Amino acid sequence: MSHQTVIVLDFGGQYNQLIARRVRECGVYCEVKPYTTPLAELKAMEPIGIIFTGGPNSVYDEKAPHVDPELFTWGVPILGICYGCQLMAQTLGGQVTEAQDDSAREYGKTPTYYDTACRLFKGLPDQGVSWMSHSDYMAQVPQGFALTAHSDNCPNVAIADEARGFYGVQFHPEVNHTENGIAMIRNFLYGACGAVGDWTMEDYLKTSVAAIREKVGEGKVLLALSGGVDSSVCAALLAEAIGRQLTCVFVDHGLMRLHEGDEVEAAFAKWDLNFIRVDAEARFLGRLAGVTEPERKRKIIGEEFIRVFEEEAKKIGAVDFLAQGTIYPDVIESGAGDAAVIKSHHNVGGLPDYVDFKEIIEPLRLLFKDEVRQLGRELGLPEYLVMRQPFPGPGLAIRVIGDLTKEKLDTLREADAIYREEIAAAGLDREINQYFAVLTNTRSVGVMGDGRTYDYTLALRAVTTSDFMTADWARIPYDVLDRISVRIVNEVQGINRICYDITSKPPATIEWE
Ligand code: XMP
Repeated sequence: MSHQTVIVLDFGGQYNQLIARRVRECGVYCEVKPYTTPLAELKAMEPIGIIFTGGPNSVYDEKAPHVDPELFTWGVPILGICYGCQLMAQTLGGQVTEAQDDSAREYGKTPTYYDTACRLFKGLPDQGVSWMSHSDYMAQVPQGFALTAHSDNCPNVAIADEARGFYGVQFHPEVNHTENGIAMIRNFLYGACGAVGDWTMEDYLKTSVAAIREKVGEGKVLLALSGGVDSSVCAALLAEAIGRQLTCVFVDHGLMRLHEGDEVEAAFAKWDLNFIRVDAEARFLGRLAGVTEPERKRKIIGEEFIRVFEEEAKKIGAVDFLAQGTIYPDVIESGAGDAAVIKSHHNVGGLPDYVDFKEIIEPLRLLFKDEVRQLGRELGLPEYLVMRQPFPGPGLAIRVIGDLTKEKLDTLREADAIYREEIAAAGLDREINQYFAVLTNTRSVGVMGDGRTYDYTLALRAVTTSDFMTADWARIPYDVLDRISVRIVNEVQGINRICYDITSKPPATIEWE
């Protein structure tokens, strides 16, 4: 693919992915590479510019990451952010020290004054708030560099050597707290690097269809379709590229939301592909009968899923490719972290051992989630599929607390559908990142008409979050909650009490099981 490329050289900063997303939002393709990537490999990418990310170290630390100084003689524009800025300053002969007093250390929102003659700040207001996070101080900036922004405490918040195309900022332009930060990134890309803005999903669709056709040739491709955003877009892209050479196996485990299975099937009706929907509800419910422990439910569902998929794969026979909907954040993050396992997430991913195939194909491997959604739209997938909120692999099995039955699942499905309908009607479906109903296994006494009821309590969960690692409970207006509660209790048999979950994560998790 012949897009202009920017390299985001990663020094371990917490915002490295965000920088990359911002660059792409500006219409420029970029890839995140670890700072240890050999120079030859970076050169082979023929980048039009490089962005050094922030990082947790101080450049004067013995073990601090460094770069090959040849990076600076190669003639490619560089933007250094925080650690990246200090590293550039130090490598080019400046001096970075620990800030001696608090006034030179800056965190958080800081009024900043810009020299708008500098390309980075061209056309922007000459002052604004920027988001700082540095405890080091550039005591001396390298020769050839001008000071292009300052704050009340710090004379060199930004530096630039415009002749060489080097820019450094000690704040984070990629975060929303920095006013005009994205415009600064855009200025770097278009003003300093000569970007033309050739990264659009419309183009990507064309080039990747061509690339898939070339790679697959006459071969056969198999894909496990879950109905989630990634696997759906992956399936649609492959269907567009290779039609009947693609077989999608959609395992309907009977644990999906109301009408979801039919919706997924309908979304693919416009393509001529081999679409296999396996109705496995009875099998899954049979194996889950009497199981109450959440991790056990996950394990059973994971195993059963593989079994069903394997049986289908056997019927199809050998294929050339197994397709997976891996996306870029999975690629960048892979291998990172050794956090404790709180829940074992079963995802349609660990299948290779069970299928007779030669190669894996991952057509979304380079895309961020927003781009995957955009690509889905380009492909004509319906908005409800493209904008779908995350839905766990084990589905409603982990939203019926305790023992599962078809009746309980049906009750939950009805209640959940009303909840989602009302949230959408109130226009809240875009600002709440995940919302769903949970059927608790608590029954309580109620009164309906003249009679006593003894029915289930339903819990409503809604969270706002950017990464699903931490989350806050959503402040749904009382009148919306009221409508939801009244409708569910009136319309769904078996529920006589509604609770709203007001715990954040941590200490709670998003799902109840
Ligand atoms: P928790 O409950 O761990 O959820 O706070 C974080 C996010 O992960 C989703 N989730 C799952 N996804 N398989 C999945 O594919 C699972 O077993 C699973 N459990 C939780 C959850 O919906 C939320 O988006």
